[in-house]
Amino acid sequence: MIELKKFYITTPIYYVNDVPHIGHAYTTIASDILARWNRILGKKVFFLTGLDENSAKTVQAARERGFADIKKYTDEMAKKWAHAWKILNISNDDFIRTTEPRHRKNVIKFFKGVYKKGDIYKGKYEGLYCDDCEAFLTESDMVDGRCPLHKKEPRHIIEDNYFFRLSKYQGKILKLYEKNKGCILPESRMNEVLSFIRAGVKDISISRPKKEWGIQLPIDKNHVIWVWFDALINYLLPEKFWPADLHVMAKDILRFHCIIWPGMLLSAGYRLPKRYFVHGFMTINGQKISKSLGNAIDPVSLAEKYSADALRYFLFRELPFGADGDFSEESLLERRNSELADNFSNLFYRATYFTEKNFHGKVPKPGRIGKEERGLQKAAKKAVNEYSRCMEKYDLSNALKIAMNLSSETNKYFQGKKPWETIKTKKSDCATTLYTAINTLRIISTLLYPYMPYSSEKALELLNAKQARFKDLSKFTIKPGQKIKAEILFKKMEKSEEEKQSKLNLKIGTIISVEDHPDAEKLYVIHVDLGSETRQIVAGLKANYKKEELEGKQVVMVTNLEPKELRGIESQGMLLAAEPGIILSPGEKVENGTNLLGFNYDRLISFKEFQDNDIHVIGGHDQAVLCNGKKLKAQNILISPERPVKNGAKVL
Ligand code: MSP
Repeated sequence: MIELKKFYITTPIYYVNDVPHIGHAYTTIASDILARWNRILGKKVFFLTGLDENSAKTVQAARERGFADIKKYTDEMAKKWAHAWKILNISNDDFIRTTEPRHRKNVIKFFKGVYKKGDIYKGKYEGLYCDDCEAFLTESDMVDGRCPLHKKEPRHIIEDNYFFRLSKYQGKILKLYEKNKGCILPESRMNEVLSFIRAGVKDISISRPKKEWGIQLPIDKNHVIWVWFDALINYLLPEKFWPADLHVMAKDILRFHCIIWPGMLLSAGYRLPKRYFVHGFMTINGQKISKSLGNAIDPVSLAEKYSADALRYFLFRELPFGADGDFSEESLLERRNSELADNFSNLFYRATYFTEKNFHGKVPKPGRIGKEERGLQKAAKKAVNEYSRCMEKYDLSNALKIAMNLSSETNKYFQGKKPWETIKTKKSDCATTLYTAINTLRIISTLLYPYMPYSSEKALELLNAKQARFKDLSKFTIKPGQKIKAEILFKKMEKSEEEKQSKLNLKIGTIISVEDHPDAEKLYVIHVDLGSETRQIVAGLKANYKKEELEGKQVVMVTNLEPKELRGIESQGMLLAAEPGIILSPGEKVENGTNLLGFNYDRLISFKEFQDNDIHVIGGHDQAVLCNGKKLKAQNILISPERPVKNGAKVL
C-alpha cells in the first residue's frame, strides 16, 4: 500500500485566561480551512489546537474571579474554548491543554534532553519583564518605556534563573533560513526574522522562581519552567506526525516560534518544522482587539447570528490573509447578502428549483453543447487549477475569490441563456443550460467546502453528489437522470430596527486639558485621551464647570461625527452632556477608548444624523441614560450624568 502523504498543522495554543475572540477565531479558522483542503487532497491530516494554561496570568485571572482551585478555573475556561471551536465547525484532531499529564511528560523529557546536551546553565537575570507577554523585553523592544503590545511598563526583575544557550544555535538557524527562504511566509516575515538573528541572539532565561503553578524543573524544585519553553513543546504531541508541516500564527509571536523554537529543537535533537505562516493582526473599527477595551467581538454570537459558514467566509473574503485588516459587522452583513445570498445561493436555488419544477427533479440530458458551455467548463477547470495553486501558497483570500468568481460567471451564463424562455421555445437548450449550471455548481460547492463546510456539504447532498475530494474536481460528474433537490442555502438578512438606529460610535475618554476658546466666550477647547488617540473638542460647558473641575474626568464621546470648525477651532467629535450641560460619566473608572456596548458604528455621520437618535436621562436618584431605548453601558458599567439632572433630560 502506498503511504499517504501527511499534513500536520497547528494553531498557537491560546492563553486559557482569555475568552476566544474574533482574532483567535481567525487563526483557528484559517488552519481549519487548510486542514480541510488537505483532506480533500487525500492527505493524512493531523490538526492540533489547544490551550496554554501554565502562565502566571492564569493564576491571577483565577483569583480575580474568586476561584481558589486554579485547575477548576482552567477547566471552566477550557469548556468555553471547546464550545467556540465546535460552533465554528473546527475539525481539529486533538485539543491539547498544557496542564495535562501527557504534555507535562513531554516537557520533562524535552528539558532533560536539552540539559544533557549541556545547553542549560544557572545565572542571574536582571531585566524588564512584561507579564502580559510572559517575556523579557529589551530597551529597543519598548516604546516610551512601555511594552508596545500591552501598553504597560514592564517590571524590573533580578532573579536566579536557568538559561538556555540559544546563542549557540544562532549560526545554524540563520544558515537554515538562508538556504530555505520559503520556510517562513510571507517573505516580509522571513526578512524580519533574518534581521533579528543577524542582530545577534542572546541566551534566554527559561525558568522562573517557583510559585504554585507551572511545571517544575526536573533539576531544581525551586523553579518552574518558563511558560513559553513549556508551551512550544505542545507541538510535539502527535509524535508520529512530527515535524509539523505548518505552524500558523500571527506576527505577535513570530520570534518565539521562528527563533527560540528551532533553537530548542536543535538542542533536543528533533527535526525542525517545515514551514510557518505568519498572518497579520485584525483590528475592530481600526482599534486593537482587547478585552480591556471591551471590543473583543465574540465569534460565537456572530456565528449564531449570521451562521458559522457566513462568518468563516467573510473573514477570508474581506481580509487578505497575511496582511493586517479591519473587521466590521456591517461589512459581514453586506457580503453575506450580496455574495452568499444573491450570488451563490440564488444561483443554486434557481438551477435546482427549475430542474425540480420542469424535469421532475432529475438532471436533464443536455442537448447541443455550444461555445458558452465549453467556455464555462474551461473556466471551471482554470478556476480549480488556480485555486489549488493559491492554496499551496496559503493564499486563502484569493482562492476564495476564485471560487466566487466562478459562481458569478455561472450566474452570468445562466442569466444569458434564459432557461425560463427556452423551456417554452427549445427544451433541449434549456436542458443544456441546467446540466451545465448544475455541474459547475458541484465544482463551486466543493471549492467552498474548506471555507463553508456546512453549506458545502448541504449543497453536495442536495445535488446527490459525493463528498468533496480533489479527484475529478473539475470534471462534470453529475450525469443526466441524477435526482437532485432544491433548497435556499442563504436567505437574505435584514438589519434589526435597533441596528438601523444606532449609527453612533460612543467611547469613554479622559479629559486631559481644558482651555478657554480664544474667540468664543462660552466655549472650552478640551483635549480627550481615547487610549489610542487624543481628540480636540470644542464644547459649551462653561456655565456648569470650571476648568479644573473637568480635568481628569471620564466622559462619553461621540467619535464618529464629521469634524467641524467652531469659531476657527476644529472640534473632532462631541462630548455627550445632559441638559443643562452636565457631562455623562461611567460609574467606575473604565479604560480610555472603551466602546459603549452596541455603539461601535464605523462610519462618519453628520450632525443631522446624530440628531436622529433619541438620547435622554431616566430615573430620579440612580440615573441612567437611554439611547434609542438602550441603556448606555461600558463593559456593564452604567453611564449616568455626573451630577443629577431632571428625569427625562435630553442628552446631546
Ligand atoms: N499562548 C501563546 C501562544 C503559545 S503557542 C506555543 C499566545 N497566546 S494568545 O492567546 O495570545 O494567542 C496569540 C495568537 O492569537 C496570535 O498569534 C494569533 O494567532 C491570534 N490572535 C490574537 N489576536 C489576534 C488579532 N487581533 N488578529 C489576528 N490574530 C489574533 O500568544
